[in-house]
Amino acid sequence: GLVNTREMFKKAVSGGYAIPAYNFNNLEQLQAIMVACAETSSPVIVQVSKGAREYANQTMLRYMAMGAVRMVREMGSNIPIALHLDHGDTFELCKSCVDSGFSSVMIDGSHHSYEDNVALTRKVVEYAHAHDVTVEGELGVLAGIEDEVQAEHSTYTKPEEVEDFVGKTGVDSLAISIGTSHGAFKFKVKEGEEPPPLRFDILAEIERRIPGFPIVLHGASSVVPEYVELINKYGGKMEGAVGVSEEQLRRAAASAVCKINIDSDGRLAVTARVREFMAKNPGEFDPRKYLGAARKELVKLIKHKNEAVLGSAGKA
Ligand code: G3H
Ligand code: 13P
Ligand code: ZN
Repeated sequence: GLVNTREMFKKAVSGGYAIPAYNFNNLEQLQAIMVACAETSSPVIVQVSKGAREYANQTMLRYMAMGAVRMVREMGSNIPIALHLDHGDTFELCKSCVDSGFSSVMIDGSHHSYEDNVALTRKVVEYAHAHDVTVEGELGVLAGIEDEVQAEHSTYTKPEEVEDFVGKTGVDSLAISIGTSHGAFKFKVKEGEEPPPLRFDILAEIERRIPGFPIVLHGASSVVPEYVELINKYGGKMEGAVGVSEEQLRRAAASAVCKINIDSDGRLAVTARVREFMAKNPGEFDPRKYLGAARKELVKLIKHKNEAVLGSAGKA
């Protein structure tokens, strides 16, 4: 069945790679994640956001994940699979996911005061651990896509807080803010310029204070330029979409970062292939055709991430 993240993080930290955490909202995404991870023999975390719960229903998603585990085993693969709540914001929501069979939850108290974040996270940890469910907490705030200049609006994780936070809360992993943000417009960059590097100095200081502790990187999509180009070519409008370079992600994965969250790249892959399919096949009306094209692209994307960016391929 599903497993919590404890064992996979331990191996990832010592092995210098990161476990992929892919968001899913529907059948095609989940199938693609499972097939790609089984075929690359990668441990995997599939995660459900608040938005995903609203779109697809928490119970449905939980049983889909169980079905996916069964499918993978029938494929002859034994990869570890965790089902994780992404960005839980209340104790009640985390409890509901623990009760319904999730193997891991995130309590994102990063928008609260430090003291309130500690208290809320502690409460979730006590409940979750009693059910053998692992917990991800967060310190520092990721910039929103609406911010004018990303770096000025994000609140980087304060390294001097991390030791106290993990000690007081008992979390199993810690999400940090070192310059990434959610969505497809992570950095405002001028033509021909590179996005600013992540704050590896802050990450190093965090590692120094809590050596070997599992660190999580949110907002880690590369915003694959080929997909943005395809989307724009076939009627979309995503000028200025930019993400974290693969080189930066490789560097993060080799460090204490042992979970890398990817949602936007999958959305872009689906949108690019659906737009292309629609433009090239105006008479087609079977959703399996265009969703099939999207799913095929997702498998390719995820295999590439596992093999060439996160280093999780072959680690199951
Ligand atoms: O953290 C953000 C994830 O990409 C999930 O986004 O709430 O739109 O599903 P969502
Ligand atoms: P991206 O928007 O960069 O894919 O980040 C996803 C994420 O952090 C989900 O929690
Ligand atoms: Zn996130």
